[in-house]
Amino acid sequence: MKWVELARRLGRDDGAGDPDPHPTLAWLRATSPIFRLPGPGGADSGGHWLITSYDLARQCLNDPRLSFDPRNAAVPQNAPGHTPYVLAKDPPEHTVLRGMVKAAFSPGSVARLRERVAEVCARTVDTFADRERFDLFADYALPIPELVAYEFFGIAPEDRLPLGRATELSLVIALREQYAGGPATDEMHAYVARVADRTSPEADGLVGAALRAAGRGEATQETVLGLLYLLFATGQLSTAPFIAATLTRALQHRPIPSRPTGAQDWRPLINEVLRLDSPVQTSMPRFALQDLILGGERVAKGEAVFISVAAANRDPETFPGPDELRPDRRNQSHLAFGFGVHFCVGAPLARMEAEIAVDTLFRRLPAVRLAVPPDDLVFGWGPLLRCATAVPATATAAD
Ligand code: HEM
Repeated sequence: MKWVELARRLGRDDGAGDPDPHPTLAWLRATSPIFRLPGPGGADSGGHWLITSYDLARQCLNDPRLSFDPRNAAVPQNAPGHTPYVLAKDPPEHTVLRGMVKAAFSPGSVARLRERVAEVCARTVDTFADRERFDLFADYALPIPELVAYEFFGIAPEDRLPLGRATELSLVIALREQYAGGPATDEMHAYVARVADRTSPEADGLVGAALRAAGRGEATQETVLGLLYLLFATGQLSTAPFIAATLTRALQHRPIPSRPTGAQDWRPLINEVLRLDSPVQTSMPRFALQDLILGGERVAKGEAVFISVAAANRDPETFPGPDELRPDRRNQSHLAFGFGVHFCVGAPLARMEAEIAVDTLFRRLPAVRLAVPPDDLVFGWGPLLRCATAVPATATAAD
């Protein structure tokens, strides 16, 4: 199945894409920075709160009175057997689980993968470089995280799924099955179990590291499988939108086009893209462990609190000119990777992928540019994620 068709089919069928959420989020932030939405079954079925201001968002992301664990929800959540959120626990249990994979995700371990990521990006550019027109989302941003995940996990070439299958399963799990279980969820669980079975605990990569932790008695085999499933099924989905956004913004704001791209430091642009185009728009829910007052509102025990990372990252009180791309901003403390104990464990890997992806593209195809006006890009995958689901581009000489 073509990537772009899949993305469209799982988004909105009319091809019109998701509307821009920012005007509504800005209005909410200005009028009710903590806003109560009725639960799925009406007003009495458990409240859902949405946080849109930066200060409150940062507080809630790391407030110990708000639990990550769905067992503290007033309204039962998805069956635990199907939830990928092995890490959806609170300290101290969460600290132990996270510790099992912390070393594999450290900046040092991630940096050792640099060359492999550069090879993946170069090979991927080769698949479309001679075409007059290509799609930087379907042809480039989508395959890279999947190919990198195989390297990072240390999955042998003969144990890999056909290219595109892992991303397709992840998309169906997130957007259609919505983490409540289904055929894609079952297939992904079975795949991860097969990989773990075929991998030696001595092997390089995340699977080997997790198996060693299990061998030391730090976790049960079931927990290890859940953790690998979580990391394999979800990490790629936020990284692809991030790479697509980085490329799209870089194409519009290439700072010094005549300069050899090898000399370009993309990190300030990338950090600003994370703030402005936050790939993960909304946090995981937190559940109040007691009745509490947040932003002047009374949140009842067991009610769910969602944090709009996208809205917080455009709060004008914290980021003046919030809708503008300003890579030289002094305040870089955006919340695109969360904040506090649940801060994204994959952040160094995702940053490195985006950096190498943009650098490789501009080195290999210096004339690359968007083939449509930026305002014509169609966005989808909402409301939890957001990305342009097609980024038409060309590298032929301009007329
Ligand atoms: C640009 C790409 C990414 C973005 C924007 C992103 C964003 C986030 C955010 C906002 C959170 C916090 C959620 C919350 O507190 O409710 C988070 C947590 C997490 N992310 Fe990422 N993520 C990205 C890439 C990745 C990758 C590549 C992986 C793994 C391969 C990953 C694995 C995780 C895990 C396991 C957690 C939960 C950590 C915990 O609970 O301790 N993420 N991510």
